[in-house]
Amino acid sequence: MGKTAIVTGSGRGIGRAIALRLADDGYDVCVNDIPGNDSIAEGVAKEIRDKGRKSCIALADVSKLSEVQKMVETSVKELGDLNTMVANAGIAQVKGMLDLTEEDFQRMLSVNITGVHNCYSVAAKQLIKQGNCKKDAPGKLIAASSIVGFKAFALLGHYSATKWAVRGMNQAYAMELAEHNITCNCYAPGIVDTPMWELIDSGLGKKQNKGKGEVMKYYVKELTALGRTSEPEDVARLVAFLASQDSNFVTGQTQLVDGGIVFT
Ligand SMILES: NC(=O)c1ccc[n+]([C@@H]2O[C@H](COP(=O)([O-])OP(=O)(O)OC[C@H]3O[C@@H](n4cnc5c(N)ncnc54)[C@H](O)[C@@H]3O)[C@@H](O)[C@H]2O)c1
Repeated sequence: MGKTAIVTGSGRGIGRAIALRLADDGYDVCVNDIPGNDSIAEGVAKEIRDKGRKSCIALADVSKLSEVQKMVETSVKELGDLNTMVANAGIAQVKGMLDLTEEDFQRMLSVNITGVHNCYSVAAKQLIKQGNCKKDAPGKLIAASSIVGFKAFALLGHYSATKWAVRGMNQAYAMELAEHNITCNCYAPGIVDTPMWELIDSGLGKKQNKGKGEVMKYYVKELTALGRTSEPEDVARLVAFLASQDSNFVTGQTQLVDGGIVFT
């Protein structure tokens, strides 16, 4: 039977790879990105339709509850009952703790934590209303944490704090939603070759007097056991498992997928 998923921030990067992988696995997928990113979202939706699956777009800023509610409504109207929410959207900023403005800090919290809470809570209410989550076919809530959710990076302090918070909040959701047959898990990528890491590379490079690509090269060469940058598809493969029936007895976890940088 077909399934449906919403993947937030899937206009590019890791979210796009997840949306395409879930389409390969038989999901109809609602592509979300921020208002204004219509053309990249439409491009991903077309790639999904070219694979023979249904797709729709729901532009929404995940930090705004009313927009997330409309996103879930659109997905259900266009694709049918919801099965899986992937709260992937996030932002990064390279700045020292003492340089952060009030706005910097609030913006990071509102997208990376409030955004995940909005997506989890609205999706969970929809799943409970549908009444079709079963022990052997649970609803799935999945969110993006990070290696910095286990060990913070200097100059990414507020970003790191949000990725720890996602892990903690996911644990509470897992405990509260178990009785509704909904599982909750996070993926924690390392150094993934996306526009977000380009931003981090250039920000850390400036602070450390290093040229373009040098910081990324250091992390990959010196700190990654498997010795290469992650591709978005490496992360999508883990998310495919967390979304699948094979992970039905896994909940409240945050699984690293970093080629061996942080060990738990
Ligand atoms: N790239 C990495 O190395 C890495 C490592 C660990 C964790 N992550 C996490 O994985 C997720 C995806 O990262 P990425 O590298 O693909 O990032 P990216 O910046 O390349 O793509 C993120 C997408 O999310 C969208 N987005 C941003 N704010 C949004 C909002 N408020 N509402 C809806 N969409 C929004 C952006 O427009 C963009 O299309 C993020 O949560 C990130 O923190 C990334």
